[in-house]
Amino acid sequence: MKIITRRELIDKWFKFYTSKAHVIIPSASIVPENDPTVLFTTAGMHPLVPYLLGQPHPKGKRLCDLQKCIRTGDIDEVGDDSHLTFFEMLGNWSLGDYFKEQMIPWSYEFLTSLEYLGLDKDKLAVTVFAGNDIAPRDNLSAALWEKQGIKKENIYYLKDNWWILGSGIGPCGPDTEMFIDTGKPKCSPECNPSCDCGKFLEIWNDVFMEYKVNPDKSVEKLAHPNVDTGMGLERTLCKLNGYKSVYETELFAPIIQYLEKISGKSYHDEEYTSSFRIISDHMRAATFIIGDEQGVSPSNLGQGYVLRRLIRRAIRHMKKLSIEKGHLGEISKLYIEYFKQDYPELNTNAQKIIDELNKEEDKFLKTLELGNKEFEKVINGIERKNQFMSKDPNYKPENTISGKSAFRLYDTFGFPIELTQEMANERGYMVDIDGFNEAFRQHQELARTTNAGVFKGGLADDSVWTTRLHTACHLLLAGLRKMFGNQIEQKGSNITSERLRFDFNFDRKLTDDEVKSLEEFVNSAIKQSIPVERLEMKFEEAKQKGAYGVLKAQDNDIISIYKIGDVDFQICGGPHAKNTSELVDFKIVKQEAVSAGVRRIKAVINTQNAN
Ligand code: ALA
Repeated sequence: MKIITRRELIDKWFKFYTSKAHVIIPSASIVPENDPTVLFTTAGMHPLVPYLLGQPHPKGKRLCDLQKCIRTGDIDEVGDDSHLTFFEMLGNWSLGDYFKEQMIPWSYEFLTSLEYLGLDKDKLAVTVFAGNDIAPRDNLSAALWEKQGIKKENIYYLKDNWWILGSGIGPCGPDTEMFIDTGKPKCSPECNPSCDCGKFLEIWNDVFMEYKVNPDKSVEKLAHPNVDTGMGLERTLCKLNGYKSVYETELFAPIIQYLEKISGKSYHDEEYTSSFRIISDHMRAATFIIGDEQGVSPSNLGQGYVLRRLIRRAIRHMKKLSIEKGHLGEISKLYIEYFKQDYPELNTNAQKIIDELNKEEDKFLKTLELGNKEFEKVINGIERKNQFMSKDPNYKPENTISGKSAFRLYDTFGFPIELTQEMANERGYMVDIDGFNEAFRQHQELARTTNAGVFKGGLADDSVWTTRLHTACHLLLAGLRKMFGNQIEQKGSNITSERLRFDFNFDRKLTDDEVKSLEEFVNSAIKQSIPVERLEMKFEEAKQKGAYGVLKAQDNDIISIYKIGDVDFQICGGPHAKNTSELVDFKIVKQEAVSAGVRRIKAVINTQNAN
């Protein structure tokens, strides 16, 4: 079998779609800007939501890309043949342009044509939507597949063929999924592509986005139908090359070899295979998260917490392979070198990635041994009690680590709760998660912080406040430019429903007076109750009118601008508050240095002052 490389697969994708008049767009940040409902970009369509909902995209109606994504929902599955936390998705989009009649023949062509993937059509299986109360059974897609040459018996109607973002809100619609049939016998007469017996392996998904779900869960038809497709790069590469697992591909092989060398253990030794895989996956994800344009550092909150969990879990599995301290940077360097052509930010941030990994390793190792001892103490305590009580015939042996103990491991020894759970499970114990959350909440109340929501799987979902804080970011930048000149630009921002974080180019600490003036500038705009208007115009015209922003576009591209009276005129996709008065009262709570020449401001809306 001829090996197809990652580069070849990507080149084929872009060649195919540019030949069909698509424009290649760069991968967006792995941390979604202005979307508090999720921590990470989970699919190629995520950064395109405003355009799928109807806003014109500067690059037109046909787009394609290679998007970096993170999905942590299946983190516990990592270690098997196919699950990953970080992955790359090849995508193409029609924003109100072509639809099923065009997309299905193209999918067929890309999969089967010898110039592209050259797959045997009879080894493909497809699924189409079986219908529900929102949309009917998708007979058209099935007919289009059949017309291409897919045998009727290889076309399956399934109810689950519906795609929407994890939040359950936003553009959505029925999809048709494409699978490689491995040739294994069906596991039962009912076996179909949704079965995980290993007969069918999904490689691509075409979503026909005709609907949107509103935050109140009502469903509407979109102004124009879209196509959103996603091909998982790792899985496709794995299957095209006939490998059993994604870890055998060129993406991971050098890392696994390196780990074999420094550990003296074999990846093929079943006792260690999953540790090799977990380290490889988690270190790749950590490299991309720290190296992202939005730059995340390990912390106990949001993305930073996920990152911490990934690094600490990798370290624990390195311990299982008896690998000593000090190798995280080397592993990361292998990834940076391999991926930097497609993601230059990894190269720009290489030193930061290595420094953050080393710092986090130092921090964790300082407490790991003590934490392990504490963990053993907790287990011994339960075992002693069980033994002591075993004479009592009515006694039910305990098998749960208390929430209080789990919290102590978290708070004093830096064990992410999931790590404690994993270690407990290995020993046949459970952890009282509700008790842990309660201990955590009490602690947070004491510390008067507000972010316990992270353990419920993400940041608080309160899009109204996020939208308002986004408008506050615009006013803040307008104030900075007024005070220090128009060379001041946004260097990054991150908004939750509780606060905004805004980075800008500036090389010193702001004085107390400057902070006060900035607050006054923003609050004066709030008091004037200025409407926030969205305008559309050509990029060239916008620049002539003095619009500013980080977006790079061609002169003729139609772009979206937000105008706040004569205070601000910024290129931006939104969303924003309707009127500045919604922002109530603006307060800067912190300023700090991010890197040489870049400062960060953290600010909140002070609702105490609301009337
Ligand atoms: N958005 C679709 C997916 O991620 C293509 O599967």
